[in-house]
Amino acid sequence: MTVRIAPSVLSADFRNLGADIAMCDAGGADWIHIDVMDGRFVPPISYGAKVIEAARRSSSKVVDVHMMVVEPEKHFDDFVKAGADIITIHAEAAPHLDRQLVRIKELGCKAGVALNPATPLSSIEEIVHLLDLLLIMTVNPGYGGQKFIEYSLDKIERARFLLDQAESSAALEVDGGISRDTIARCWRAGADTFVAGNAIFAAADPQAEIGILRGLCVESV
Ligand code: DX5
Ligand code: ZN
Repeated sequence: MTVRIAPSVLSADFRNLGADIAMCDAGGADWIHIDVMDGRFVPPISYGAKVIEAARRSSSKVVDVHMMVVEPEKHFDDFVKAGADIITIHAEAAPHLDRQLVRIKELGCKAGVALNPATPLSSIEEIVHLLDLLLIMTVNPGYGGQKFIEYSLDKIERARFLLDQAESSAALEVDGGISRDTIARCWRAGADTFVAGNAIFAAADPQAEIGILRGLCVESV
Protein backbone atom coordinates (compact mmCIF):
# COMPACT_ATOMS: atom_id res chain seq x y z
CA MET A 1 0.00 0.00 0.00
CA THR A 2 1.12 3.54 -0.72
CA VAL A 3 2.62 5.67 2.05
CA ARG A 4 3.77 9.17 1.19
CA ILE A 5 5.52 11.41 3.68
CA ALA A 6 5.27 15.12 2.90
CA PRO A 7 7.40 17.39 5.11
CA SER A 8 5.82 20.82 5.54
CA VAL A 9 8.46 23.50 5.02
CA LEU A 10 6.45 25.84 7.26
CA SER A 11 8.54 24.35 10.08
CA ALA A 12 11.84 24.59 8.19
CA ASP A 13 14.65 26.99 9.11
CA PHE A 14 14.19 29.84 6.65
CA ARG A 15 17.80 30.90 7.01
CA ASN A 16 18.62 27.67 5.19
CA LEU A 17 15.46 26.90 3.25
CA GLY A 18 17.05 25.30 0.19
CA ALA A 19 19.29 23.12 2.36
CA ASP A 20 16.35 22.00 4.52
CA ILE A 21 14.31 21.05 1.46
CA ALA A 22 17.25 19.19 -0.09
CA MET A 23 17.76 17.41 3.24
CA CYS A 24 14.13 16.17 3.18
CA ASP A 25 14.55 15.08 -0.43
CA ALA A 26 17.70 13.08 0.40
CA GLY A 27 16.02 11.72 3.53
CA GLY A 28 13.31 9.96 1.54
CA ALA A 29 10.46 12.47 1.58
CA ASP A 30 7.96 11.67 -1.15
CA TRP A 31 6.43 15.11 -1.51
CA ILE A 32 7.44 18.60 -0.37
CA HIS A 33 4.43 20.37 1.19
CA ILE A 34 4.21 24.15 0.73
CA ASP A 35 1.64 26.01 2.87
CA VAL A 36 0.55 29.24 1.23
CA MET A 37 -1.38 31.51 3.64
CA ASP A 38 -2.88 34.86 2.70
CA GLY A 39 -3.71 36.55 6.01
CA ARG A 40 -7.40 36.40 5.06
CA PHE A 41 -8.56 32.79 4.88
CA VAL A 42 -6.20 32.16 7.80
CA PRO A 43 -4.64 34.86 9.99
CA PRO A 44 -0.95 34.46 9.08
CA ILE A 45 0.74 35.41 5.83
CA SER A 46 3.34 32.80 4.91
CA TYR A 47 4.80 32.79 1.38
CA GLY A 48 3.95 32.14 -2.26
CA ALA A 49 5.51 31.56 -5.66
CA LYS A 50 9.09 32.30 -4.59
CA VAL A 51 9.09 29.49 -2.06
CA ILE A 52 7.41 27.11 -4.53
CA GLU A 53 10.25 27.95 -6.92
CA ALA A 54 12.82 27.33 -4.18
CA ALA A 55 11.29 23.91 -3.51
CA ARG A 56 11.28 23.11 -7.22
CA ARG A 57 14.96 23.99 -7.50
CA SER A 58 16.02 22.21 -4.30
CA SER A 59 14.17 18.93 -4.83
CA SER A 60 13.12 16.53 -7.56
CA LYS A 61 10.14 15.36 -5.50
CA VAL A 62 6.49 16.27 -6.00
CA VAL A 63 5.84 19.89 -4.98
CA ASP A 64 2.52 19.78 -3.12
CA VAL A 65 1.02 23.26 -2.72
CA HIS A 66 -1.66 23.76 -0.04
CA MET A 67 -3.42 27.07 -0.66
CA MET A 68 -5.05 28.59 2.42
CA VAL A 69 -6.11 31.52 0.30
CA VAL A 70 -9.33 33.25 -0.76
CA GLU A 71 -9.80 33.65 -4.52
CA PRO A 72 -7.07 31.07 -5.12
CA GLU A 73 -7.59 31.20 -8.89
CA LYS A 74 -5.68 34.50 -9.04
CA HIS A 75 -2.46 32.59 -8.34
CA PHE A 76 -2.79 29.37 -10.34
CA ASP A 77 -0.71 30.56 -13.32
CA ASP A 78 2.11 31.88 -11.15
CA PHE A 79 2.22 28.77 -9.00
CA VAL A 80 2.29 26.41 -11.98
CA LYS A 81 5.07 28.48 -13.55
CA ALA A 82 6.96 28.33 -10.26
CA GLY A 83 6.89 24.53 -10.40
CA ALA A 84 3.87 23.27 -8.46
CA ASP A 85 2.93 19.66 -9.26
CA ILE A 86 -0.26 19.61 -7.17
CA ILE A 87 -2.41 22.58 -6.18
CA THR A 88 -4.94 22.09 -3.39
CA ILE A 89 -7.61 24.68 -2.66
CA HIS A 90 -9.97 24.91 0.32
CA ALA A 91 -13.66 24.16 -0.27
CA GLU A 92 -14.49 26.95 2.23
CA ALA A 93 -12.55 29.51 0.18
CA ALA A 94 -13.61 28.46 -3.32
CA PRO A 95 -17.34 28.21 -4.00
CA HIS A 96 -16.81 27.24 -7.65
CA LEU A 97 -14.83 24.09 -7.08
CA ASP A 98 -15.72 22.55 -10.43
CA ARG A 99 -14.41 25.56 -12.35
CA GLN A 100 -11.24 25.91 -10.29
CA LEU A 101 -10.28 22.22 -10.38
CA VAL A 102 -10.78 22.10 -14.14
CA ARG A 103 -8.63 25.22 -14.50
CA ILE A 104 -5.78 23.75 -12.44
CA LYS A 105 -5.82 20.64 -14.61
CA GLU A 106 -5.87 22.72 -17.80
CA LEU A 107 -2.62 24.25 -16.62
CA GLY A 108 -1.11 20.74 -16.48
CA CYS A 109 -1.17 20.43 -12.70
CA LYS A 110 -2.87 17.92 -10.40
CA ALA A 111 -5.79 19.31 -8.40
CA GLY A 112 -6.92 18.78 -4.83
CA VAL A 113 -9.51 20.02 -2.34
CA ALA A 114 -8.88 20.55 1.38
CA LEU A 115 -11.58 20.44 4.06
CA ASN A 116 -11.39 22.15 7.44
CA PRO A 117 -12.33 20.03 10.46
CA ALA A 118 -15.83 21.55 10.55
CA THR A 119 -16.53 21.10 6.82
CA PRO A 120 -18.52 18.01 5.91
CA LEU A 121 -17.41 15.53 3.26
CA SER A 122 -20.69 16.16 1.46
CA SER A 123 -19.18 19.42 0.14
CA ILE A 124 -17.04 17.43 -2.32
CA GLU A 125 -19.41 14.55 -3.08
CA GLU A 126 -20.43 15.89 -6.47
CA ILE A 127 -16.90 16.50 -7.72
CA VAL A 128 -15.04 13.42 -6.46
CA HIS A 129 -14.36 12.42 -10.07
CA LEU A 130 -12.32 15.64 -10.52
CA LEU A 131 -10.04 15.08 -7.53
CA ASP A 132 -6.42 14.01 -7.72
CA LEU A 133 -6.17 14.62 -3.98
CA LEU A 134 -8.47 15.03 -1.00
CA LEU A 135 -6.89 16.75 2.01
CA ILE A 136 -8.53 16.20 5.38
CA MET A 137 -7.32 18.87 7.81
CA THR A 138 -6.64 17.31 11.19
CA VAL A 139 -6.15 20.74 12.82
CA ASN A 140 -7.69 24.12 12.07
CA PRO A 141 -5.40 25.53 9.37
CA GLY A 142 -3.00 28.42 9.90
CA TYR A 143 -0.23 27.22 12.20
CA GLY A 144 2.26 24.41 12.56
CA GLY A 145 2.71 22.49 15.79
CA GLN A 146 -0.96 22.19 16.78
CA LYS A 147 -2.64 19.27 18.48
CA PHE A 148 -4.25 16.59 16.30
CA ILE A 149 -8.06 16.66 16.41
CA GLU A 150 -9.12 13.15 17.40
CA TYR A 151 -12.57 13.21 15.81
CA SER A 152 -10.91 13.57 12.39
CA LEU A 153 -10.23 9.84 12.40
CA ASP A 154 -13.85 9.06 11.74
CA LYS A 155 -13.87 11.56 8.86
CA ILE A 156 -10.76 9.97 7.34
CA GLU A 157 -12.54 6.59 7.41
CA ARG A 158 -15.58 8.04 5.71
CA ALA A 159 -13.39 9.84 3.15
CA ARG A 160 -11.66 6.52 2.34
CA PHE A 161 -15.08 4.94 1.83
CA LEU A 162 -16.24 7.82 -0.38
CA LEU A 163 -13.16 7.61 -2.62
CA ASP A 164 -13.37 3.82 -2.86
CA GLN A 165 -17.08 3.94 -3.70
CA ALA A 166 -16.33 6.39 -6.49
CA GLU A 167 -13.43 4.18 -7.67
CA SER A 168 -11.23 7.23 -7.27
CA SER A 169 -7.47 6.88 -7.17
CA ALA A 170 -7.10 10.31 -5.51
CA ALA A 171 -4.51 10.60 -2.75
CA LEU A 172 -6.05 10.88 0.72
CA GLU A 173 -3.83 13.33 2.58
CA VAL A 174 -3.93 14.35 6.23
CA ASP A 175 -2.38 17.54 7.59
CA GLY A 176 -1.92 18.81 11.13
CA GLY A 177 -0.54 17.22 14.27
CA ILE A 178 0.82 14.20 12.40
CA SER A 179 3.49 12.56 14.55
CA ARG A 180 4.65 9.21 15.91
CA ASP A 181 1.54 9.28 18.14
CA THR A 182 -1.04 9.87 15.44
CA ILE A 183 0.23 8.63 12.07
CA ALA A 184 -0.61 4.94 12.50
CA ARG A 185 -4.21 5.67 13.40
CA CYS A 186 -4.59 7.89 10.31
CA TRP A 187 -3.04 5.17 8.17
CA ARG A 188 -5.42 2.54 9.53
CA ALA A 189 -8.34 4.91 8.93
CA GLY A 190 -7.34 5.01 5.26
CA ALA A 191 -5.00 7.96 4.70
CA ASP A 192 -2.03 7.37 2.37
CA THR A 193 -0.28 10.77 2.38
CA PHE A 194 0.98 12.39 5.58
CA VAL A 195 2.04 16.00 5.99
CA ALA A 196 4.36 16.57 8.93
CA GLY A 197 6.00 19.83 9.91
CA ASN A 198 6.91 19.98 13.55
CA ALA A 199 7.36 16.21 13.89
CA ILE A 200 10.09 16.21 11.23
CA PHE A 201 11.82 19.56 11.65
CA ALA A 202 11.88 19.54 15.46
CA ALA A 203 13.28 16.00 15.51
CA ALA A 204 16.92 15.50 16.50
CA ASP A 205 17.42 13.70 13.17
CA PRO A 206 14.79 14.89 10.65
CA GLN A 207 15.86 12.40 7.98
CA ALA A 208 15.55 9.47 10.37
CA GLU A 209 12.15 10.78 11.48
CA ILE A 210 10.83 10.52 7.91
CA GLY A 211 11.73 6.82 7.95
CA ILE A 212 10.28 6.31 11.43
CA LEU A 213 6.96 7.89 10.46
CA ARG A 214 6.82 5.77 7.32
CA GLY A 215 7.64 2.63 9.30
CA LEU A 216 4.70 3.22 11.64
CA CYS A 217 2.30 2.80 8.72
CA VAL A 218 2.03 -0.96 8.69
CA GLU A 219 -0.88 -3.26 7.96
CA SER A 220 -2.61 -4.25 11.18
CA VAL A 221 -2.70 -8.02 11.69
C1 DX5 B 1 -1.36 24.08 8.95
C2 DX5 B 1 -0.61 23.63 7.72
C3 DX5 B 1 0.23 22.45 7.96
C4 DX5 B 1 1.29 22.61 9.03
C5 DX5 B 1 1.43 21.26 9.68
O1 DX5 B 1 -2.29 25.02 8.60
O2 DX5 B 1 -1.49 23.31 6.67
O3 DX5 B 1 0.77 21.90 6.77
O4 DX5 B 1 2.52 23.05 8.55
O5 DX5 B 1 2.27 21.39 10.76
P1 DX5 B 1 2.38 20.28 11.90
O6 DX5 B 1 2.76 18.98 11.25
O7 DX5 B 1 3.45 20.83 12.78
O8 DX5 B 1 1.04 20.19 12.58
ZN1 ZN C 1 -0.67 22.20 4.91
